[in-house]
Amino acid sequence: MAYKIAVFDAKPYDMVTFNKVNEEYGFELIYHKEHLDKNNVLLASGTDAVCIFVNAKVDKIVIDKLHSYGVKLIALRCAGFNNVDIAAAAEKDIKVVRVPDYSPHAIAEHTLALMLCLNRKVHRAFLRTRDGNFSLIGFQGFDMYGKTVGVIGTGKIGKVAIGLFKGLGMNVLAYDLYPDTKWAESAGVKYASLDELYAGSDIITLHCPLTKETEYLIRDESIAKMKKGVMIINTGRGKLIHTRHLIEGLVSGKVGYAGLDVYEEEGAYFYEDHSDTVMTDDVLARLLSFNNVIVTSHQAFFTQEAMSNIAHTTMENMLDFFNGKELKNEIVYKAE
Ligand SMILES: NC(=O)c1ccc[n+]([C@@H]2O[C@H](COP(=O)([O-])OP(=O)(O)OC[C@H]3O[C@@H](n4cnc5c(N)ncnc54)[C@H](O)[C@@H]3O)[C@@H](O)[C@H]2O)c1
Repeated sequence: MAYKIAVFDAKPYDMVTFNKVNEEYGFELIYHKEHLDKNNVLLASGTDAVCIFVNAKVDKIVIDKLHSYGVKLIALRCAGFNNVDIAAAAEKDIKVVRVPDYSPHAIAEHTLALMLCLNRKVHRAFLRTRDGNFSLIGFQGFDMYGKTVGVIGTGKIGKVAIGLFKGLGMNVLAYDLYPDTKWAESAGVKYASLDELYAGSDIITLHCPLTKETEYLIRDESIAKMKKGVMIINTGRGKLIHTRHLIEGLVSGKVGYAGLDVYEEEGAYFYEDHSDTVMTDDVLARLLSFNNVIVTSHQAFFTQEAMSNIAHTTMENMLDFFNGKELKNEIVYKAE
């Protein structure tokens, strides 16, 4: 009998890729549009595993319910796992697996797209020329060549992004809690302290995970240490930035540009069409009102290659679990 998997947050494009890849695996995939949280966890009853995405809210209440339904596996189809209470899962012996590496290129390339678009005002030029307006007023950019980009987090994505920035002839200042000095030497990258990075960067881009230490890393105090007119790019996780403080920085001109693929309250809006309703999130509405801010809907991962890799690794993770094999992509709880 096929193992039953409740696949939450399932969009048409997820179903296309998952159904295709599942031809090799034969799971019974039960799709749900909603992201898993305490209000809909009942949908997981009678299944063997849940497959979830970035905006699921898997807290202790959800874990306890999953346990009571006999669900033994949470398969994240993403890299970040800040939205799952790993301690609560470990306590109930529910395994948690993820897809740590599906295409760092997808996210790094989207990061560069945001930078170039903001710098050269492509988002505004697109609208202007459609309206028959061919004026260049307000569109002056700067050469990326020779500018300094500060990269926070030099893991898989940060490293690929740095390769792209170097290709443009940019200087790189890197910061990581666990610097990879061997790689830095061979790549010609300089690690700096966070304060040095803030003070010396024209552009700052975030590629570290969301943890207790990195929550609101970018806030009033850190913004105060940055260059006037700095560009901030976040393709990491929304809560790396204190959005109200970012808005204050944008209003004062301290922050010159923001490219945000993630937003701290994105769960209520991202991945859905809300164009027929009034926006009730005043912070998001304010962000969207700036002409020097681009918000994309957590789409940095969204390439054909990444989607296919995500589906394959997720199914391999689940198969390994059901076959009692070692779980190479397990998130193991470490007590603090
Ligand atoms: N927007 C998207 O679609 C998307 C897709 C994938 C991943 N992401 C985000 O990107 C993040 C990075 O992904 P990755 O694959 O490069 O992960 P990774 O684990 O390869 O790299 C993360 C790096 O951050 C460093 N780090 C950890 N704590 C830190 C801290 N306090 N300060 C500075 N650096 C710290 C780690 O040492 C590591 O080098 C993920 O955690 C995820 O949140 C976003």
